[in-house]
Amino acid sequence: MKKMEAKLLSYIVLCAMVVFFVSASDPSPLQDFCVAVNDSRIGVFVNGKFCKDPNLTTADDFIFTGLNIPRNTSNPVGSVATLVSVDVFPGINTLGVGFARIDFSPNGVNPPHTHPRASEILTVVEGTLFAGFVTSNPDNRLFTKVLFSGDAFVFPVGLIHFQLNLGNTYAVAFAAFSSQNPGHIDITNAVFGSTPPILDDVLTKAFQVDEDVIRNLQAQFRTDN
Ligand SMILES: *[C@@H]1O[C@H](CO)[C@@H](O)[C@H](O)[C@H]1NC(C)=O
Ligand SMILES: *[C@@H]1O[C@H](CO)[C@@H](O)[C@H](O)[C@H]1NC(C)=O
Ligand SMILES: *[C@@H]1O[C@H](CO)[C@@H](O)[C@H](O)[C@H]1NC(C)=O
Repeated sequence: MKKMEAKLLSYIVLCAMVVFFVSASDPSPLQDFCVAVNDSRIGVFVNGKFCKDPNLTTADDFIFTGLNIPRNTSNPVGSVATLVSVDVFPGINTLGVGFARIDFSPNGVNPPHTHPRASEILTVVEGTLFAGFVTSNPDNRLFTKVLFSGDAFVFPVGLIHFQLNLGNTYAVAFAAFSSQNPGHIDITNAVFGSTPPILDDVLTKAFQVDEDVIRNLQAQFRTDN
């Protein structure tokens, strides 16, 4: 009997540890809601946002409008993402969710990027997208799909992913994130557009190319020159 109990206990502890280690979303809310306030006069930082007095909270805190409006995609990559994080939608504070609208011009691309704090589910509502992500080392496996209107694709948290508009028309997708602040690391901007720039020696060795190739790439992505 004792042995059984010990076995059961170690099984429960193991299960608890597995649950603990695979839990990768935002912390669970400790109250029904916690509408964020934007008060820079409060001189401390917390992991998240301060909560508005629940008695002053209204239905307006829980609505976000305007995602029906297409954005201008006339830029070098031909796409624009409208991220709805806690910064623009205080009502999602502590709830572990966020979302975005992504507009694509014909042949536009949402360049390779990662969200360090969120998995993403992308749903195409208009057009045809080629979407994919790459697994981490050592495999670096590429998974891709062609997505049509109504199709959804999931990008696991932290992995590099992208979408390309395959059609000759505009495309629109909506993305849902498992974080109120998913974060966005654009690979090209981070590597070739940092401020200050990463040392040439680092980039020439990392990419195994000459300095002029690096300079060329930096010229495309440097935002401080
Ligand atoms: C909110 O309202 C309730 C009921 O009127 C009251 O008891 C409570 O003190 C109020 N909370 C705050 C933070 O003012
Ligand atoms: C879209 O942006 C481009 C480049 O900034 C600009 O030239 C163009 O007028 C804009 N189009 C609309 C409809 O606002
Ligand atoms: C909160 O403040 C930031 C920085 O001042 C600003 O960019 C943002 O729009 C504000 N958000 C809201 C909901 O007022």
